[in-house]
This record gives sequence, structure tokens and C-alpha cells, in this order.
Amino acid sequence: MKHSILIFDSGVGGLSILSEIRQRFPRTHLHYLMDCAWFPYGIRDDDALQQRIVDLCRDSVDELQPVLLVLACNTASTLALEALRATLKIPVVGVVPAIKVAADQIPRTRIEDAAAAPEIGLLATPATVNRPYTERLIRDFAPHCIVNRLGSSDLVQLSEDWMSGRDIRPQLQAVLGGWLTGHPAMTQVVLGCTHFPLLRPLLEALWPQVQWIDSGQAVAAQSSRVYPGDPSAGDGSASLWWTPPVTPVNAHSDTQPAASPLRATTAHDAQCHWQGAEAYLRRLGPVHSARALSIPPGP
Ligand code: DGL
Repeated sequence: MKHSILIFDSGVGGLSILSEIRQRFPRTHLHYLMDCAWFPYGIRDDDALQQRIVDLCRDSVDELQPVLLVLACNTASTLALEALRATLKIPVVGVVPAIKVAADQIPRTRIEDAAAAPEIGLLATPATVNRPYTERLIRDFAPHCIVNRLGSSDLVQLSEDWMSGRDIRPQLQAVLGGWLTGHPAMTQVVLGCTHFPLLRPLLEALWPQVQWIDSGQAVAAQSSRVYPGDPSAGDGSASLWWTPPVTPVNAHSDTQPAASPLRATTAHDAQCHWQGAEAYLRRLGPVHSARALSIPPGP
């Protein structure tokens, strides 16, 4: 489609970016693609994941013909953004943790005792917190801060479950409560995974002392700057696509509570919920189609 944007994530997380993009592109057709077959990205091998992202995005761009790709996933962007830009002929906008935004709010006063430096938090996937890309962001933009990192795929799964209407508050407490209590000076936390801004109402209610910072508005602004189509074309509709999910070993039924946060999320029991994404998109506007993409799911 000549005037459309493809927004891509492993699961529902990229909807936090899509909602910001919709504010700036009220008419443009938005394709939302979830890689349910490979969800969750945060515990995948880097080399295999990079190849997967490049292959899937190239095939999807060929099939759907968007004029802009938004890689609405920190785990994917910190790994595969350059490779994608080298492969595709359309502009690609990525999302990376808003460490600069958080660190810029903290005065760069000289502190003699390094242990007394101001603290910020980084909440992301296990992959993103350890990436060289993230190390560079911290070194370049937050040298005056202590950055406390928490990589959690449990939190990614909880976001999926929340978007499907499950009450996840006890599990959220269990995953984040101890970390936040252990760092009382940490008043700014970067949400470095696009799944996490979807939990903002819960995070703000449970921990009102914390400022939760994400990249959604910045990504939407950058998308406006580079969009090569006509932003006045379109009817404000969307399409939902997903790669067919592999049936998880311990799939949650609708009547069961979300997975215990005390058991680490693995590729075997993780499950992304395209139904939650469809319901969310329908609240934003008309949805033209919602179906599995006819692209091979990969190994
Ligand atoms: N939403 C993704 C991110 O921003 C990744 C979640 C996952 O699949 O692990 O990193």
C-alpha cells in the first residue's frame, strides 16, 4: 500500500508505539505485525534473532508494501537496526532505551564519591540490558549516573497477559517491588522495552514516586520527520498480522492466572496474544484485516 506504515514487534509491545504514531498520523493506514512464532525475543540467541528479524521484515515489506518501517522493539533495534537499513529500500525507524532523556534530567554536578552518584533505573529485556548498544548509550549519555538494570522476560509476559484482560498486579509487585525498594534513590526508571509502557497505569498507581520514561513520543516524532508518503491519504484504519504462534508447553487458559513471576519465562511457556492486540486496535479505529501472515515461520 503506497501510503502506509508497518510497525513491528515480537508481541503486543509495539502497540505502545503505534498509539503514539496514530496521534501524528490520524489518517494513515497502519500495519501492525507481531512475531508470535519467535516471541519472546529477549531470551533468543543474538545471531539467529538478527537473521530472523531481517528475513521477516524484508518478506513483510515485500508483501505489504509500506513506505516506512518502524521497528517498535528495543530488543530488535539494539541488535538489527543497521542490518535492516542496509537491506531495505524504505526508511527504518528504531526504538532504543530513553537513557539520554532520563540522564539529561539529572544535573551533571561533580561528585567525589562515585557510590553517591544519582541513580536511574533501566527496565528492559534480558537481551537489551546487556547489549553493547545499551552500554554505549550509558557511557555516552549517563556517565554521571549509576544505572541500575533489571532485565525481565516475566514482565514482558505480564504485559501480554494484561493486554488480554488478566489481573497481573500481584505478579507485578513480585517482579518489581524488591528491585524498587532496594534502590530508594532511583526516582526515574527508563522503560526500555515497548511492552512496558502498556503497564503505565498500573506502574503509576503502584509506585507514584517513580517517573517512568519511554521513547514512544520520540519515535512518533522521528517517524513524522522521515515519512515519505502523503500523511493526508488514508481512512485511519489498521491491519493486524502475526506469525503463527507455536503452541506453548504451559499455555495459560483464560481462567488461569498469569504465570508465576517466580518461575523464569522461557521460550517454552511464553505466549503472545494477538487477540489482545486486535481488541486494542479496534478501540483506535477500523481494522481491515486480522490474520496470520503467509510467510514461513522460520526455524
Ligand atoms: N517489546 C520488545 C522490546 O521492546 C521485546 C519483548 C520480547 O519479545 O522479549 O524489547
